[in-house]
Amino acid sequence: MKKLAMGRRCFSSRNMAIIPCSILLSFSVVAVQVGGQFSDGLGFISLDCGYGLDAQAYYVGPLSGIRYVSDAPYIDSGETHNISSVYASVTVPQRFLTVRSFPSGARNCYTFKSMTPRLKYLIRASFLYGNYDSKNSPSVQFDLHLGVNFWKTITVTNRSKVYYTETIMEATTDLISVCLVNNGRGTPFISSLELRPLNRTLYPVVNSSRSLILSSRFDMGRIGDYVRFPSDPHDRIWNPFDETTSLTKTSTNLTVENPVDDHFEAPHVVMNTAVVPVNSTKLELNLATEPGGLDEYYAVLHFSELKPLLQNESRQFFVYLGGTLWNDAKSFTPDYLSSSAVYSTNPTSAPTHYNISLVATSDSTLPPILNAAEVFSAMQNTIVPSDSRNVDAMVAIKGTYAVKRNWMGDPCVPKAYAWDGLNCTVDAAGVSRITAVNLSHGALTGEISTSFANLSEIQYLDLSYNKLTGSIPAFLAYLPSLKYLDLANNELSGLVPSSLLTKSQNGSLALRIEGNRNVCFNATSCGAKRKKPAPTIIVISCVVPVVLLLMLVVLCILRKQQGNHFFVHIQRSRGRHMRGSKEYAFQIDNRRFTYTELKKITKNFGRVLGKGGFGTVYYGHLDNSIKVAVKMLPHTSSEEFVTEAQHLSRVHHRNLVSMIGYCIDGEHLALVYEYMSQGTLKEHLRAESRGDRPLSWEQRLRIALEASQGLEYLHTGCKPPLIHRDVKTANILLNERLEAKISDFGLSKAFEDDDHSHVSTKVAGTPGYLDPEYSVKNQLSEKSDVYSFGVVLLELITGQPPILIGSEKIHIVEWVYERLAKGNVEDVVDKSLQGEYDVNCAWKIAYVALNCAMQSSAKRPTMTEVVMQLKERLALQSNLDKTQLEDRNTQKLLIEHGEMYQMSSFEIECATISDKDGPSAR
Ligand SMILES: *[C@@H]1O[C@H](CO)[C@@H](O)[C@H](O)[C@H]1NC(C)=O
Ligand SMILES: *[C@@H]1O[C@H](CO)[C@@H](O)[C@H](O)[C@H]1NC(C)=O
Ligand SMILES: *[C@@H]1O[C@H](CO)[C@@H](O)[C@H](O)[C@H]1NC(C)=O
Ligand SMILES: *[C@@H]1O[C@H](CO)[C@@H](O)[C@H](O)[C@H]1NC(C)=O
Ligand SMILES: *[C@@H]1O[C@H](CO)[C@@H](O)[C@H](O)[C@H]1NC(C)=O
Ligand SMILES: *[C@@H]1O[C@H](CO)[C@@H](O)[C@H](O)[C@H]1NC(C)=O
Ligand SMILES: *[C@@H]1O[C@H](CO)[C@@H](O)[C@H](O)[C@H]1NC(C)=O
Repeated sequence: MKKLAMGRRCFSSRNMAIIPCSILLSFSVVAVQVGGQFSDGLGFISLDCGYGLDAQAYYVGPLSGIRYVSDAPYIDSGETHNISSVYASVTVPQRFLTVRSFPSGARNCYTFKSMTPRLKYLIRASFLYGNYDSKNSPSVQFDLHLGVNFWKTITVTNRSKVYYTETIMEATTDLISVCLVNNGRGTPFISSLELRPLNRTLYPVVNSSRSLILSSRFDMGRIGDYVRFPSDPHDRIWNPFDETTSLTKTSTNLTVENPVDDHFEAPHVVMNTAVVPVNSTKLELNLATEPGGLDEYYAVLHFSELKPLLQNESRQFFVYLGGTLWNDAKSFTPDYLSSSAVYSTNPTSAPTHYNISLVATSDSTLPPILNAAEVFSAMQNTIVPSDSRNVDAMVAIKGTYAVKRNWMGDPCVPKAYAWDGLNCTVDAAGVSRITAVNLSHGALTGEISTSFANLSEIQYLDLSYNKLTGSIPAFLAYLPSLKYLDLANNELSGLVPSSLLTKSQNGSLALRIEGNRNVCFNATSCGAKRKKPAPTIIVISCVVPVVLLLMLVVLCILRKQQGNHFFVHIQRSRGRHMRGSKEYAFQIDNRRFTYTELKKITKNFGRVLGKGGFGTVYYGHLDNSIKVAVKMLPHTSSEEFVTEAQHLSRVHHRNLVSMIGYCIDGEHLALVYEYMSQGTLKEHLRAESRGDRPLSWEQRLRIALEASQGLEYLHTGCKPPLIHRDVKTANILLNERLEAKISDFGLSKAFEDDDHSHVSTKVAGTPGYLDPEYSVKNQLSEKSDVYSFGVVLLELITGQPPILIGSEKIHIVEWVYERLAKGNVEDVVDKSLQGEYDVNCAWKIAYVALNCAMQSSAKRPTMTEVVMQLKERLALQSNLDKTQLEDRNTQKLLIEHGEMYQMSSFEIECATISDKDGPSAR
């Protein structure tokens, strides 16, 4: 305890006179539509490229019933064009009437954020030239990349033909990008881009290292038009097979069922029809493949018996895929009115054609049958993308400052298309990380983004000659490799963190801050320039449709320090939607109480609030009627206790329970805290104690964010970092506005090294929350808190305790993981919410939680990243344009008419993913 306690300093405590206006968020979102979107197979994103300039533009395809939206929110480059009216006949679906073309830039990418990692997606890109550029020269060739990997070369030669390509892939992170790459043979363009989520169990050949590219897909027995959504809930396109001289089409009016463990879910409309050979015991198909002949192919054949077989009839055949006899020469018999599939698990090469042959066995009385066939080539995802935290950080930075340049796709990979102004390094495993960011003269506005904190290997950061405002964040001093930091010629203000100055003085960092008129180097000189920062507006929206009843609560804490006194002045105002503002101030003594005083304050320890790991907590109130909680502690060596208590009393953050004073009086040790009227989060989550009003989904999200911010402050705002060691729902307290604050921080440490303390066994933490790696290696780090916080997040989602006691004990992490692996988030979410939550959101939060609770601490995110992820997952948007606020009435109106109004690209993604929209094909 000794060194640690003495040395610890937290930002914004002693050396900072002003705490910038803090921002409270108000969740005033109303869930109107809830649950189930994903399980319906929807969650489609359908972009009509070049359609509409504004992000809100959409239409519903008259025949397909699919909602097509403008691609503008997903890309920030390219030109939009109409195709020539010559080609825009009434039979051409609307999504092909416009294109987006990319005359400049070697690589232009669409970015889909907030995808669900480990889920599979079908992505289809379509192209119709239609003389959009009035050059009448359709001969163009360009490459399509999926993320960092090559997908396909698109060759367009016929000006009136729709070319399309489709891939089935597994998302590895929450970003998916589709890039058009100019290979010098004409200007890339695109008409439509469609993305459909697929259950993970579908297409088992697809995994994180292998995607499939569609070569052909036929509904063999179909007569007439192709099949797609809603006949196929996954919106695959099944074409009729037209070469029929040797084949007879057959069908049934009965429904072909999908078995429960179906890996392909071929729709019954497709399975109801089939072909059999005209007069042969052999059915042969030769499906054309890509010219070039380098690819490896996989096939999937779909079978169902369509007629009830008589006693003396049988249908049995051998299956050859790409010339290879399937399944150790065992024959195959389709089931009556139930679909089954035969598919390759190993690829075969097929230079010009992929051969499929079905050969009846000698005792089969009926010829082979085939209902549908798919052939794919494999895309090996061999190129390693950049470190996902670096990518997330850069995407966030790009968003914050609206950077255009060529900032699309992966920042570092492939090197030829790396983002301008970045340098990267590649580690032994082939993973790239960013070492240099040069955004000088970039017209950046706003504050220095906290996302820079996640560029773990950055050495060089140049933000000079911009219009950056706000203070210089202290995290910059803790970027381990940073050697050059140029912030010169901005509009930064406030105190330069002493940690940065120290690094600069000892030569480990070249620091430039000249040309910022309002920065100051010590508290004295800052005092003269003190200025009230402008309040920031933050909107959280996670639920769709969104009702933005924005409630702004701006909490400004202005703290002056005089001798041993802290003056806390709290001003609350609620933005312009509140009548008047309330203001109150009270004085907090960081004072030493006597035992007699405590007796008086607590009315002779009359009311017990709770019993914690470190002693009993009593209710009390001070003379000025401020309510307090008095924690009586076990005995320890008192001198060190005083030092630690004094340090802890200086740790102030709006998501940490404030310490008002302490008592050390003979045998008696106590800490006096602000009173949190709504008790612990644990009580609110457990069915037996929460009464009839469980926390709503929005309240849970807010509590998660607030608690994460409190912990982040302990880890990054204090030096050395303060590790809580006992993060749990019982240590997260709620005030009367249900705002969450972390309690009991610093205590584990304070008591740890004390050999005489009878709580020394307690420091290990609480079962269920305990970092499994810590229990093994006994090395404590911030990541142990991250693990425990992951458990807390899971409790918030599920309402379950960390260890579930059913027929046997199971840890909440396993419990959740098991259920999510089956693709089912509904099984996981607290039933007491009665479906009042957004499924997509629940997936995202569960993903953050499971990441925190990784076994290996190295794989867990830092608390800073957790805060960022939560904010991003919650589609948090800062500095919202005021005019958009004033548009609230318009939005309300739209919502009343059942329309969705979308305010930012974040929300659009959240919205479209859970967009539930009507039916019908083409
Ligand atoms: C995924 O498949 C499983 C098992 O077939 C099913 O229970 C689950 O509902 C499916 N999930 C979605 C999102 O379709
Ligand atoms: C495309 O056509 C629409 C209406 O037909 C028109 O409003 C729009 O300006 C055209 N766009 C371009 C890029 O010519
Ligand atoms: C171009 O495509 C259209 C529509 O698919 C087709 O009718 C036409 O025959 C094609 N032209 C050539 C030259 O292939
Ligand atoms: C299916 O129904 C249609 C009309 O109801 C009928 O004409 C046709 O013969 C039926 N087909 C089979 C295979 O039963
Ligand atoms: C079927 O094929 C066999 C041998 O190829 C031939 O002898 C027979 O006439 C054919 N039957 C019909 C109905 O075409
Ligand atoms: C980035 O890389 C380029 C080319 O290798 C080099 O010239 C430049 O100095 C590097 N910049 C930084 C800041 O390291
Ligand atoms: C604070 O800065 C001012 C001006 O920069 C300087 O005059 C003063 O000596 C400094 N005070 C301390 C304590 O360093």
